[in-house]
Amino acid sequence: MKIVLLGPPGAGKGTIAVKAKEFYAIPHISTGDLFRNNIKNETELGKKVKTILAEGGLVPDSVTIEMVKNRIAEPDCKNGFILDGFPRTIAQADALAEMTELDAVVNFVIEKDDVIKRLSGRRMCPSTGRLYHIIFNPPKVEGKDDETGEDLIQRDDDKPQAISHRLEVYVEQTQPLIDYYRGKKLLKDIDASKAPAEVFENMKEALK
Ligand code: AP5
Repeated sequence: MKIVLLGPPGAGKGTIAVKAKEFYAIPHISTGDLFRNNIKNETELGKKVKTILAEGGLVPDSVTIEMVKNRIAEPDCKNGFILDGFPRTIAQADALAEMTELDAVVNFVIEKDDVIKRLSGRRMCPSTGRLYHIIFNPPKVEGKDDETGEDLIQRDDDKPQAISHRLEVYVEQTQPLIDYYRGKKLLKDIDASKAPAEVFENMKEALK
C-alpha cells in the first residue's frame, strides 16, 4: 500500500505513522525526519536546510523531490510506504505522480487551536525521535525518554514564532493539495482531533 499522510503541522501524522508502519508492515518515510537526521549528522544537505527548518519554511522542491525519489527507490519500499510530510506543494505532488501511483491520501482534519496546543507541548527523544507531549502523552519521568533516559528536547520549530510561520506556509502551499487529491479521488478525510488510538482506527477503516 502506498499512502500519503496530509495535514497541518502537529496534526498527529508522525504519531499515527508509527502505528501504521507496524500494522501495514511498510516503511514510514518522514521528510522532516530525513532532514533532521541530516542536520544531526552535519551533512552538506543538513547544513543547507538547518535554518530553513528552524524558521519553519519549506526546503526547495528540487532538493526535497530528489531526496524522496532516492528513498522510495530503496528495496524496503517495494511493497509500499507511508509518506509523512511529502508532498507539501503542488510541484511535489506532480513529481510524486511521475514516480509512482498512490493508493490513498489520508487527510488529518483538525482545528488550528488544537495543533498549536499539540506543537507547543511536543517533546522528542534526540536519538530515537520518539515523541511525547507534556500533557497528552507525558514521559514516565518528566523530561526524560522512557527507554534511553536521555533528556527530551523541544524542536526549534516548535517555538511560538516558527509555529505561526509553519501554519501560514501550510495554508498557502500545502492546503491546496486537499482539492488536488480530492479531484483525483484519492482523499480520505479523518477526524484527527480524537485520541491517537481512535484516529488510527478511523484511518484503518477509511483505508479498507
Ligand atoms: P515535519 O517534521 O514534517 O513537520 P510537520 O509536518 O510540521 O509535522 P509535525 O512533525 O510538526 O507534526 P505531526 O503531524 O507529525 O504531529 P506529531 O505526531 O509529531 O517537517 C519539518 C520541517 O521540515 C518543515 O517545516 C520543512 O522545513 C521541512 N520539510 C519537511 N517536509 C518537507 C517537504 N515535503 N517540502 C519542503 N520542506 C519540508 O504530533 C504532535 C504532538 O501532538 C506530539 O507531541 C504528539 O505526542 C501529540 N499528539 C499527536 N497525536 C495526538 C492526539 N491524537 N491527541 C493528543 N496529542 C497528540
